[in-house]
Amino acid sequence: MIKKITKIGVLTSGGDSPGMNAAIRAVVRTGIYHGLEVFGIRHGYQGMLDDDIIKMEGQSVANIIQRGGTILKTARCMEFMTHEGRKKAFENLKKRGIQGLVIIGGDGSFKGAQTFSNEFDIPCIGLPGTIDKDIAGTDFTIGFDTAVNTAVEAIDKVRDTADAHDRLFIIEVMGRDAGYIALHSGIATGAENILIPERKTNPEEIIASLQEKKKRKKLVNLIIVAEGDEFGGANELSNYIKKEIPELETRVCILGHIQRGGSPSCLDRVIASRMGYHAVECLIEGKYNVFVGIVNNKMHYTPLNEAVKKKQKINEEWMNIVKILAT
Ligand code: F6P
Repeated sequence: MIKKITKIGVLTSGGDSPGMNAAIRAVVRTGIYHGLEVFGIRHGYQGMLDDDIIKMEGQSVANIIQRGGTILKTARCMEFMTHEGRKKAFENLKKRGIQGLVIIGGDGSFKGAQTFSNEFDIPCIGLPGTIDKDIAGTDFTIGFDTAVNTAVEAIDKVRDTADAHDRLFIIEVMGRDAGYIALHSGIATGAENILIPERKTNPEEIIASLQEKKKRKKLVNLIIVAEGDEFGGANELSNYIKKEIPELETRVCILGHIQRGGSPSCLDRVIASRMGYHAVECLIEGKYNVFVGIVNNKMHYTPLNEAVKKKQKINEEWMNIVKILAT
């Protein structure tokens, strides 16, 4: 166990998310405030392996709170999954005297941190940075709010053209194997149906509902599909609907990486700042291997290994709301 931490590292790992820069800024400035030396590790775990590590000053994080992406860059690193890779990474940290890490990323990144810490006894504090919001133990993940607002803005635009042509639009959103972006953006845009991986999709039910709406001359419909839905993506659903109701004019729109970029929302900047600040406090207090979340507006600490195992649960009531409101 390390007695008093004096040097810490911060990195972003996995898919970037808006607000990561605000989190980096908070870690760097809180660390400096407490008299720590702070190092930025570039390109995620890959930078630890490649010794791509830079000393950060208060000024290094100036003018970034409003920027999307991550100034430290990010990567998904295969070599870090091997013991040899992690050993190489540890040697680079040791060389510089880095005694604790803040990892901003998703559950995959937390898994890497947990293994690394178990092997080399280095405290790792996670910050949930992912647009997918697929981590249990926090009400928010850094980037979700911005991503979902980007999706809503785009879907509203699609609705304009759908309305002009009386068309059905099937819009695919990101989320990997979680349906949060789909669920929130679908409710916020008045979608007729929302397909998410957490619930079994019943294609016959979708057809019956579209037929019923067609009878009532409701031709403008939006269906939001989470990319991880087990039925398939927007293209698969569109092909199925075209076969079943050929007279319905159906189009597909895949929002893709647009959801990952852009200036972070106020909410994402605020939670990233709070979480980044508390991550440094955790390292100073000697907390080991937790991630910093927010539950009921209070800071909440979850062991990294639990975050890896659990997923957020979908509130079933929300699906009922979708059904009732989309008449
Ligand atoms: O985890 C964030 C995310 O954007 C997912 O929603 C998506 O499935 C994945 O990353 C895309 O990854 P990549 O940018 O590597 O294609």
